[in-house]
Amino acid sequence: MNKLFIALSCLAAIAGLSCQSKKTAVAEQPDRKWWKEAVVYQIYPRSFKDANGDGIGDLKGIISKLDYIKSLGVTAVWLNPIYSSPNDDNGYDVSDYRNIMSDFGTMADFDELLKGLHARGIKLVMDLVVNHSSDEHDWFKQSRSSRTSPYRDYYHWWNAERGTPPPRYSLFDVNHDAWRYDSLTKAYYLHYFSRKQPDLNWENPKLRKEVYAIMKFWSDKGIDGFRLDAFGFAAKDTTWPVYPKGYESNFSKYYALQPHLHDYLKEMNQEVLSKYDVMSVAEGTGNTYEDAHNMVDADRHELGMAYPFEAVDIAKPDGYSVLHFKQVFSKWDSVFVEKGWLSVFLANHDQARLVSRFGNDKPAFRSLSSKMLTTFILTMRGTPYYYNGDELGMTNAGFTDIKDYRDKATLNEYQHQINIKGDMKLFMKNTEFSCRDNSRTPFQWDGTTNGGFSTGNPWIKVNPNYNTINAAAQESDPNSTLNYFRKAIKLRHDNLVLVYGKYTLLDKDNPDTYAYTRELDGKKLLVLLNFRDHIAAAKTGLDLSKAKVLISNYDQASADGKLKPYEAVVYELQN
Ligand code: GLC
Ligand code: CA
Repeated sequence: MNKLFIALSCLAAIAGLSCQSKKTAVAEQPDRKWWKEAVVYQIYPRSFKDANGDGIGDLKGIISKLDYIKSLGVTAVWLNPIYSSPNDDNGYDVSDYRNIMSDFGTMADFDELLKGLHARGIKLVMDLVVNHSSDEHDWFKQSRSSRTSPYRDYYHWWNAERGTPPPRYSLFDVNHDAWRYDSLTKAYYLHYFSRKQPDLNWENPKLRKEVYAIMKFWSDKGIDGFRLDAFGFAAKDTTWPVYPKGYESNFSKYYALQPHLHDYLKEMNQEVLSKYDVMSVAEGTGNTYEDAHNMVDADRHELGMAYPFEAVDIAKPDGYSVLHFKQVFSKWDSVFVEKGWLSVFLANHDQARLVSRFGNDKPAFRSLSSKMLTTFILTMRGTPYYYNGDELGMTNAGFTDIKDYRDKATLNEYQHQINIKGDMKLFMKNTEFSCRDNSRTPFQWDGTTNGGFSTGNPWIKVNPNYNTINAAAQESDPNSTLNYFRKAIKLRHDNLVLVYGKYTLLDKDNPDTYAYTRELDGKKLLVLLNFRDHIAAAKTGLDLSKAKVLISNYDQASADGKLKPYEAVVYELQN
């Protein structure tokens, strides 16, 4: 099995309102928050829109598409990192947290983008990458320069005279070795990700102060939130215990939520988060539901929202169990009924395409299954996150030649597999299905060269299906995937029951369909979803004869629970 596949799945594994009585209007609920009611649209800047023709998406490109973003109905944008970076990991290796990556533009462009979003009533959430920095960050340059540098303790070092350090698994390293020897000071530094992403030392109060100052810098600019990248790994057990043999197959159990993580989060909350009206979401919510709660319950004063990965991990190349899918989402919902708040998503920049993994990307079913998945994401309790391009039903690129891949983690793993004489055929098969480059191909705007993404040479190949799958074609088609997405978002904004309402799973053991109700203040909606390419009946026992169809991905919605392939319907039930 391809290790990267395991690694990213494991990375996925780290992460992961009470029912109101009729008398209590939701407006009176003290825990009503804008970020609970938001629909988040994730933009991968490198691949969204290139304004200057150098083949790389940029801030000016996003600015040129603000009206499109607004037209979707989303109310918040999460931008993947846009800070200065040598791009070993596409911006997840930051060399200056207070500047904009030159490929992406300038701080003036950023200010214009923020203004443009706010003018349209859209919030901006930034990625905060502070488990590690780039090795080209000034802190690291200083740190590695001498053992007595005041920056030495900004990172984790192990002096060579102590012998070799206890093994630590690196997700992205060619040898999966997280300790890198640096001859200059004869010591090893720690990097859970690539060699160019040394881990920051959160035990150092000076480093923590620097991070809070960076957060204040952006908050003072007026941004509306932070997504904390890989933060579950930030605290380390610096007694460096030797882990049992084979720990690397379950390394997150050892890496996640180490001593003092909650102290750091509480401090971050006190110093920054509590002082601004910002949302905060943790990538990496630990190993258990309890871990997730401990990071996000309001009375803990740490973060605001959990981002659990258990569900995205379900999809496998040969399909997945709908029963399992329902179980995972139902369990997370039930565990968060009283306290805490969840993100609901099935895709992001670290996953392959939504429709290719969870739906069916064959032409006959692509649009239907995309709409069905959209219906699901937008009718669950929790804040929905939607990744750019999924609103068009963009599909996996599925490159078959390693030369077409750009993701360093994948390229390093390819080399690793060669070194260990791994099964390269299997590696490529898994890569085609699950590699994150699948979701990083350029956004397909229209049918012109490069899908209208760039007039230059795109940094990664455009998916050749841009001729048929693109925004311009879908704009003019009232039944398009894109226009359905807009309708589904509107439905969510018009029905607070979809945000806060009680969720109840129906027809639990049905292996093909997913049925649930959402209830709030006397309003009851029923969601029926068929996850199969054949007719399947949802047995809810509810009388649908008088139910009102609020949205459906077929012209004629099912009236008896017998669902057509990938059918999705939301009904309002009469009492
Ligand atoms: C997170 C990011 C991923 C990145 C990694 C290292 O998992 O989502 O894209 O490669 O952290 O920063
Ligand atoms: Ca550009």
